[in-house]
Amino acid sequence: MPVASINDKEFGQFQKLIYQLAGISLSPAKKALVGGRLAKRLAQYRLDSYGDYFKLLTDGHNPTELQMAVDLLTTNETYFFREPKHFDFLRGRVLAGHKPGSPFRVWSAACSSGEEPYSIAMVLADHLGDGPWEVVASDISTRVLEKARGGHYPMDRTDGISREHLSRYCLKGIGSQANTLLVEEKLRSRVKST
Ligand SMILES: C[S@@+](CC[C@H](N)C(=O)[O-])C[C@H]1O[C@@H](n2cnc3c(N)ncnc32)[C@H](O)[C@@H]1O
Repeated sequence: MPVASINDKEFGQFQKLIYQLAGISLSPAKKALVGGRLAKRLAQYRLDSYGDYFKLLTDGHNPTELQMAVDLLTTNETYFFREPKHFDFLRGRVLAGHKPGSPFRVWSAACSSGEEPYSIAMVLADHLGDGPWEVVASDISTRVLEKARGGHYPMDRTDGISREHLSRYCLKGIGSQANTLLVEEKLRSRVKST
């Protein structure tokens, strides 16, 4: 069944909804993107319009579907060591002033599929070793958070990791896991997802 295109009123409803739920501001230029991302959910429920899907989401009876819509409407782009200046700051300013042996916790508050919290964990492991440190990882999208827990990535998504970090904290997949990388359990156990 072909899905109708999203109209301005419907787009406005989803704009408000995702702002209320996640604080995300969708510009009018995102109208087609929102329509495209939600089209398969309308098809799944055999609904004729985005307005009907909005009603289904907001009638209070479909929390799982509401989470699904949030998963679809968030943009989860990420990669290892994505913001180099943040890591320079962590090493050069934050960790340089840290009292050895005292607890240290970093919150990766929109961690996507885990590349950011594992990058932070690599830096903390370098500097704090076996000391009392951890990384807390959370994201509004439960779909990406599930990926983060696995710590398992296609090799072509791991370009940002230095050779040194690769050999110290990562396992290269073989056989059926070829072309993938697994963050070592010792590092994974330092990243707590909520
Ligand atoms: C562009 S990704 C950035 C990921 C990572 N921080 C990085 O820099 O590589 C943005 C992430 O923020 C998440 N997000 C958006 N709004 C959020 C909110 N209100 N609370 C928690 N996570 C949110 C999205 O689900 C998405 O995974």
